[in-house]
Amino acid sequence: MERLQKILAAAGFGSRRRCEDMIREGRVTVNGKPARLGDSCDPEQDRILVDGVPANRRALGRRVYVLLNKPKGYVSTVRDEAGRPTVMDLVASIKERIYPVGRLDRDTEGLLLLTNDGELAYGLTHPRHLVEKVYVATVEGSPSEAVLAELSAGILLEDGLTAPARARLNADGRVRLAIREGRKHQVRRMLAAVGHPVLELRRVRVGPLELGDLPLGSFRHLMPREVKALQKAAARGIRG
Ligand code: URA
Repeated sequence: MERLQKILAAAGFGSRRRCEDMIREGRVTVNGKPARLGDSCDPEQDRILVDGVPANRRALGRRVYVLLNKPKGYVSTVRDEAGRPTVMDLVASIKERIYPVGRLDRDTEGLLLLTNDGELAYGLTHPRHLVEKVYVATVEGSPSEAVLAELSAGILLEDGLTAPARARLNADGRVRLAIREGRKHQVRRMLAAVGHPVLELRRVRVGPLELGDLPLGSFRHLMPREVKALQKAAARGIRG
């Protein structure tokens, strides 16, 4: 016997807290009766329905979470009209229909998450999300402390002022920029605006998820604790 919210979360219905909300909202029945918060049941024996649809059916479609170290030259879409290589070419060995969560520019490298978990993808890319993304940029020239402070405070771009960020210089002279928004070409535009155009750009972190030493062009499946941490971060973002 397991707590119902735990069974639902494991079946891909979102964070445990979200599953508790679904139970509270009366969307879940067990053996024909409305479930109550605190109920436990046996996922093998009991008939669990969410919005009238068997929860196990969804559980059968395996949730897949993949972290790719995207190289330059690949577009972050499932299909490219112009026939250019896409990130899907790099994960072609995965049977499930996964798709990229957000986008990296064609010439940006680094951490790209791909999944078939729509709930998580939605949470991480929601316009009101607060999940921090960290980029390392090789730039022209050497930004001063004043420039780094300007990047952190907010830069006026054509589409408005950027939200507070965190910018610093790494020991190797690269700029490490942590932002919470996801506007098109944002990092490149921010750095160009302060007179330090980007030469190379790599994403090294999304929320709690780190790129680590995964080789360029390779991918790995996330560990359950990484998935949980991402779900937590995404849920916090929406409530933000
Ligand atoms: N900002 C950019 O400029 N490019 C990316 O690919 C991601 C963030």
